[in-house]
Amino acid sequence: MRGLTLLATVVLAPTACASRTSVLDPAGPAAERIAGLSWFMFVLSGAITLLVLGILLYGLFRRRGPDAGERAPRVREPTLIVAGGVAMPVVVLLLLSGLTLAAMAAQDEDGALKVEAVGKQFWWEFRLPDEGVVTANELTIPVGRPVQLTLHSTDVIHSFWVPRLAGKIDMVPGRTNHLTIQADEPGVYRGQCAEYCGIQHAQMAFFIEAVPPEAFEAWAHREAAPAAEPIGELAATGRDVFVDQPCASCHTIRGTLARGDVGPDLTHFASRRSIGAGAVENTRGHLAGWIVDSQSLKPGNRMPPVVLAPEELQALLAYLESLE
Ligand code: CUA
Repeated sequence: MRGLTLLATVVLAPTACASRTSVLDPAGPAAERIAGLSWFMFVLSGAITLLVLGILLYGLFRRRGPDAGERAPRVREPTLIVAGGVAMPVVVLLLLSGLTLAAMAAQDEDGALKVEAVGKQFWWEFRLPDEGVVTANELTIPVGRPVQLTLHSTDVIHSFWVPRLAGKIDMVPGRTNHLTIQADEPGVYRGQCAEYCGIQHAQMAFFIEAVPPEAFEAWAHREAAPAAEPIGELAATGRDVFVDQPCASCHTIRGTLARGDVGPDLTHFASRRSIGAGAVENTRGHLAGWIVDSQSLKPGNRMPPVVLAPEELQALLAYLESLE
């Protein structure tokens, strides 16, 4: 199996980063079922291909020579057609359908953490109602505990997919879907929108970090708290800039007057690793560029350019970077 994994990694995942999101490298029970099923299908289809090639070669070989037809054993053609063209596909497809449905139905939800995930052009909102957490594009979960996701969309169809944790599932406007994921190893698992949803579909990524239960409790406690009070004059000015400028009409920072619900909740923005749902790393330079002209970093995203005086921008950066 190790050799097969290596072969498939070389053949199917030619880029270095692909191994981090490979379905062939499962890290939870749902993904393990899918990986097992994938290998089963691979081996079965390989065996059927070899069988068909064998029959083809036999047919070619049998036709050689002037009197070959006389010597060859005769198989009645209708029997061959019914067996190979009807019976075998029916058996194989029924078997695969049954195994697929069984893999989809098997979901362990005892003591599951409840998370609402909302797909938006082109980012993700995560809500943990029991913990009072609202965050964007990055979610922390406890290792070894199932996470029951409730999935919606507010605009077009997206698809939630963390290849190493579970299969993909669509997020459809006006409809609620459910998916249970679980990570059995600590780590960061990259997720990706898997349904074309517009110009920035490719840059609609998210990250799920699995940590020990105590670290999860600490994270949830931190995330549920309102934003930290700004320390220093510059950051305090930055908060005023945020609330007075158009920022507040789209974004929420809990604990301030900013209550917009169009863009991501920025209450703990500084603790995130990326800006724009995985578009760029969360650094001061990228943040400044994003505020002034996010269209140059992620063309077609929903955030308009914000016109600020240089000193206002510096204050805003100082404030946003303090929101751990
Ligand atoms: Cu959202 Cu593709």
